[in-house]
Amino acid sequence: MKQKLEALKIEALAKLQEVADPQALNDLRVKYLGKKGELTEVLRGMGGLSAEERPVIGQVVNDVRGAIEEIITAKQEAFQQQETQNRLQAEKVDVTLPGRSMAQGGIHPLTRVVQEIEDIFIGMGYRVAEGPEVETDYYNFEALNLPKNHPARDMQDSFYLTDDLLMRTQTSPVQIRTMQGMKGEAPVKIICPGKVFRRDDDDATHSFQFHQVEGLVIGRNIRMSDLKGTLQQFVQEMFGPHTGIRLRPSFFPFTEPSVEVDVSCFKCGGDGCRLCKQTGWLEILGAGMVHPKVLEMGGYDPAEFSGFAFGMGVERIAMLKYGIDDIRNFYNNDMSFVKQFKGV
Ligand code: DAH
Repeated sequence: MKQKLEALKIEALAKLQEVADPQALNDLRVKYLGKKGELTEVLRGMGGLSAEERPVIGQVVNDVRGAIEEIITAKQEAFQQQETQNRLQAEKVDVTLPGRSMAQGGIHPLTRVVQEIEDIFIGMGYRVAEGPEVETDYYNFEALNLPKNHPARDMQDSFYLTDDLLMRTQTSPVQIRTMQGMKGEAPVKIICPGKVFRRDDDDATHSFQFHQVEGLVIGRNIRMSDLKGTLQQFVQEMFGPHTGIRLRPSFFPFTEPSVEVDVSCFKCGGDGCRLCKQTGWLEILGAGMVHPKVLEMGGYDPAEFSGFAFGMGVERIAMLKYGIDDIRNFYNNDMSFVKQFKGV
């Protein structure tokens, strides 16, 4: 029996020594030490031993079990260590790698300019008003003192949808909508940014759609000097503290008198350069005192109320401000163009 045990020990140790994975190790543990294992089998035979033999064999059994258990424990530990090593290797994080940066969008230059204009006027107590892009002939023209067949309608070639509906050619109709909405209350102080549409052939400086910001102030004793002061304040905030303005007589059907407003060239400071075509001035908006007929159409008595209005092209201002030479850049979704304005 002793020999049998010794042989079992040798066989077990040899096999355990070579075991390659935890599953095989467990199989061997069951094979030798399990309830139906070979060592247990030998123990069962001990009943037939004499009283002298029993402790001796018992001792040998314990030795064999001890030896087998020892190697199993050692192997288990080795496998566990290996497993830990493998995981550490597999889940290794290289903290020195550069991070993956998130693609970050930018604000479109037109939106940026509109927001800037809004901020400036909100700072002066204005409210932002809105109106529809599909407009009636009445709001777009008639109520703005442009009756049917008025020659000035030719100034703005229009997209008509029906006899009476068109894509608005200007943000000025919002003047009338706002005044009518206020029902004669004063003061009115709004700006209205928005998209407008004209039947123009697209080129570097013309687009069939573009953006305007309209402004309207109605109250008692509103004078031309209020208009001038307001615009002076606006251009200083928009283009820099040294920017000046000049007003030139002009014509719009909805204002009387009407003016074109130039800013001193913010690039050369007025000395003359390519941007201002050597004139020192850049034309940026139209303005004037609200025509009495327009006041009436809006529900305000011209004997009691007066007001001023202005309208500017957002693309033109953005082009001047950022040195953009082709208006089509704003609309053709060229990422290399848009991306330049990320941090502006
Ligand atoms: N609506 C004019 C245009 O599109 C711009 C304009 C000029 C608006 C004078 C005004 C104004 O409110 O007073 O050409």
